[in-house]
Amino acid sequence: MSARAKPVQLARLLSDAGARGGDGGGRPTTTATAAEVVEELRLWEPRGSQPAAGRAGRSATAHEPLARPRVLLNMACTADGRATIGGRSGQIGNRADHELFHALRTAIDAVLVGAGTMRAERYGRLVREDSARALRCARGLAQEPLACIVSASLALPADEIPLLADPAARVAILTPSPASLPECAAQVRYVRCAREGQLDLPAALGELRRAGVRTMLCEGGPHLNAQLLAAGLVDELFLSLAPRLAGGDAASESLRIVAGPVLDPPVALELESVFASEGQLLLRYRALRAGEPRVEPAGGGGGAGRAVPSAERPDSSAEGPAPGEKPAPPPAPPSGSPDAPPAESSPPL
Ligand SMILES: NC(=O)c1ccc[n+]([C@@H]2O[C@H](COP(=O)([O-])OP(=O)(O)OC[C@H]3O[C@@H](n4cnc5c(N)ncnc54)[C@H](OP(=O)(O)O)[C@@H]3O)[C@@H](O)[C@H]2O)c1
Repeated sequence: MSARAKPVQLARLLSDAGARGGDGGGRPTTTATAAEVVEELRLWEPRGSQPAAGRAGRSATAHEPLARPRVLLNMACTADGRATIGGRSGQIGNRADHELFHALRTAIDAVLVGAGTMRAERYGRLVREDSARALRCARGLAQEPLACIVSASLALPADEIPLLADPAARVAILTPSPASLPECAAQVRYVRCAREGQLDLPAALGELRRAGVRTMLCEGGPHLNAQLLAAGLVDELFLSLAPRLAGGDAASESLRIVAGPVLDPPVALELESVFASEGQLLLRYRALRAGEPRVEPAGGGGGAGRAVPSAERPDSSAEGPAPGEKPAPPPAPPSGSPDAPPAESSPPL
């Protein structure tokens, strides 16, 4: 039996939970494993399923319960913004990134993924280690997260996607289609939410929330991300920034982490934490709601700071859509409802 490798120690460069900004000589003062970083978020507790409060405390809206799951988006890209190399994301991450990816899965109710990513990455079982499954149970979670796949075509062949051939897998297909997948071993349910023939993502996430999904980890891909962001359905972004340049032509294979219509206005982000390992930066951002002020750190990178209206960013209204691009959709409504979260009335998934 081979001894398990010790988890990577991430250098904590900026975060609420630990020392910030280093020792004055530019060196980080603390380290944490990916599991410890995720532990600090307490995602499985009722408080952890609410929107994050922000490093400097927040407006009341940021603490309001949501009528949908809290959505964390986890993506990796190269320093020049590439989200794929050779059509896959594997070469972009490093061991630390991999450990964070799995630690997040261990703490979450559901994983959300576009069918394009499911087909490219050929997902298998979401939580593979027995110890991680046991930890999930100890946290009051199901052994495996619910795997939520967004698809209109339902072109998801079980002989190519091991997850669908796994009898232990719980899968929810989010689709506007009345069709179903061919018979497969996984336990498959359907969340059919269509508006004018298109998938109504906010309604689908609302249905999942009513079925008991409080936290959701979106693992992409870029086309799904764009729609979630445009609809104000992303609360946080975990971005793993690789110390690599991959080049390539933006019009060809080189997807970025968000692909689709221009986000206008751009989604403003507030930096929550930064960890590093072997030059890979693990960044955590909070997505600001429309009009929510950004809190600039007061020198040294932490604590209460100056509220800056997000409208201070450069005016992008003069720029029209790029040639061939569709005009951007109207600004998205705020993602959270001021109402109390819905009673968990739908059948559990
Ligand atoms: N760097 C990273 O962190 C990262 C993460 C994830 C993925 N990736 C890479 O990204 C690539 C895939 O990304 P992608 O952007 O092409 O695909 P994607 O966003 O994962 O999936 C797109 C597909 O999802 C379904 N879909 C999306 N929005 C929908 C809607 N509103 N209604 C119904 N169905 C909808 C459609 O599936 P149907 O065609 O079945 O209708 C669509 O073709 C892969 O190469 C993968 O390796 C990289």
